[in-house]
Parts: sequence; C-alpha cells; structure tokens
Amino acid sequence: MANNNNTVKILFFGDLVGRPGRFAVRDYLSGKLKVESGKFQTAESGKLKVESFSTIDCQPLIFNFQLSTFNFIIANVENASHGFGLTEKNYNDLSEYGIDCMTSGNHIWDKKEIFNYINGAEKLIRPFNYPEDTQGQGSRVFELHDGTKIGVINALGRVFMSPVDSQWTVVAEEIKRLKDITPIVIMDFHAEATAEKVCFAKFCSELCVSAFFGTHTHVQTADEQIINNMAYITDAGFCGAKDGVIGMDYKTSVNRFTTVVPERYDVADGNVVQINAVEVEIDKVSGHAVSIRRIFELADKNKKEEENER
Ligand SMILES: [Fe+2]
Ligand SMILES: [Fe+2]
Repeated sequence: MANNNNTVKILFFGDLVGRPGRFAVRDYLSGKLKVESGKFQTAESGKLKVESFSTIDCQPLIFNFQLSTFNFIIANVENASHGFGLTEKNYNDLSEYGIDCMTSGNHIWDKKEIFNYINGAEKLIRPFNYPEDTQGQGSRVFELHDGTKIGVINALGRVFMSPVDSQWTVVAEEIKRLKDITPIVIMDFHAEATAEKVCFAKFCSELCVSAFFGTHTHVQTADEQIINNMAYITDAGFCGAKDGVIGMDYKTSVNRFTTVVPERYDVADGNVVQINAVEVEIDKVSGHAVSIRRIFELADKNKKEEENER
C-alpha cells in the first residue's frame, strides 16, 4: 500500500484493553518510529517525543510490523484504563505515543474523572448519539499540516445496547454536516449486532462516508472490504493480552458466568499480546477509499527476553 500525495493513510486500532493494550500500541508505534525515522507523520508531528517511552519501566516488545507511513492514527480507547474508561493520565500517555484521535463507546464514562476533563480533551470523541447536552463531543474535524481535513464521528448501535438516540437520524445528519466540511469522513460504529453494523455501514456508504470501522465486540472479523467506495470492517478487534476473554481475565470472567454473582472484572495478563488494527488509504479529493488492510499481530514477551539474552 504505497502512500502518495493524493491520498491520506489512516491507521485505526481496535479497543485498547488496559495496560497490556496501551503498552502494545505504544511499542507497535515506537517500532515504526524507529524504523521509519523521519517519515512517520501524525497530525501533530514534531510534538511527538519517542524518548518519553523510556520513563515506563518495561522492555518494549518486538512486533513483526510491516513498514508503513501514516498520516493519521485513531484508537478506540473506551477500555484503555484497567478495562473500563479512560483516565486523564492515560489520555495524555496515548497522545504522547502518537495517537491523533481517540474514539470510544459505552464504557467511556466508567472512570468518573472523565467528567472533569472530557470537554478540554481535543483528541477524544464520545459516541454522538447520546442526549444533546451530554459532555464532550461526538465528532471532530482534524486538520493535517498540508491542510487536509479529516472528519471523525463515533456512534453507538441500539441492538442489545442501552437506549440512545437513533443513528439513522441524528448521526446521519451529522455525517452530512461533516461532508460539507471535508470529503474524508471516518465512522467508528460501536455496536453489538453484526446485522446492525452491516446495514448501518451500507447506509453510511450511501452518505459517502470514507471508512467505517466497527468496534465493541473485541473480536476482529475477516470481512474487510470496500463497499460503495467506503472501506469497511464489521469489527476491528482489540489490542491487549491475547490469553483472556476479550481482553479480560479468564478466572473472573468464568466466575461471573458460572455463579451469576457480580465480581469485579480484571484485565487479562500474560506473555502474548495482540494488536488488532486496520489501515486504509483514502483519496483526498473524492474521499473514496482506495485500499484497506487488516492487521492482526502478536508479540511474545518471552521471545523479547530470549533475544536480550543472546
Ligand atoms: Fe470495548
Ligand atoms: Fe463497548
């Protein structure tokens, strides 16, 4: 997937779950930065400081990443702070790792401090279809240094989810408003039911959305494709510890299912972490998707230690 001046290349990470997810993304991006020194761009390139990673007391993991350059990086962060919500500290950490835009979902409210900082968090987007006076913003327009504008909108589905406003009306109106500002509009549709995701995606493609990433199930689907010039995947998956239950600890999960007594969830740990992401390339003038590639990569902490010992 060659990047050229006529296209914008976007990397989207599925839900980051806890510290394993945050650190996996940090190391994935820092690996790219090291290899792609001087080529890597973010919307705020120049502010990014790789050295700051050294303040974190763990060895970076090694991913088998492919060389790429990205103009804009998005991550879904609803589970980034111990599996539930996002602290202000972690918001700042993720910004520093090179993430330009953070989308979210139903769990974004789980850390109560969100209400203290969400209105000033310029990279963060909460689902659009909450009631009108809800804090934060449901969409944003980001501008790259060459003037290219990227509209990003986050929305919740309504099947097997808590009731919210209809994406078929309020979100559709917001897509039209963004399309008047820029041809490049990205949707993170945070929903449970596959049929609702497919159907809303087709609906969005008719409104000329450029890329549509499903999130929330934490299970990456292998159906990436271009529908009506719109890049599409039903679910981008999650970034975090591989050997748990969609990022959470197996023991507490199985206790909840077998006893039906609420038990506090814990984030899964383990040596193997996964990166689930999608990269898309979009024509700057038409807003049409040119290509989509699904990323599912694993890194093993043990292997890193073995290499250090050699
Ligand atoms: Fe999630
Ligand atoms: Fe969710």
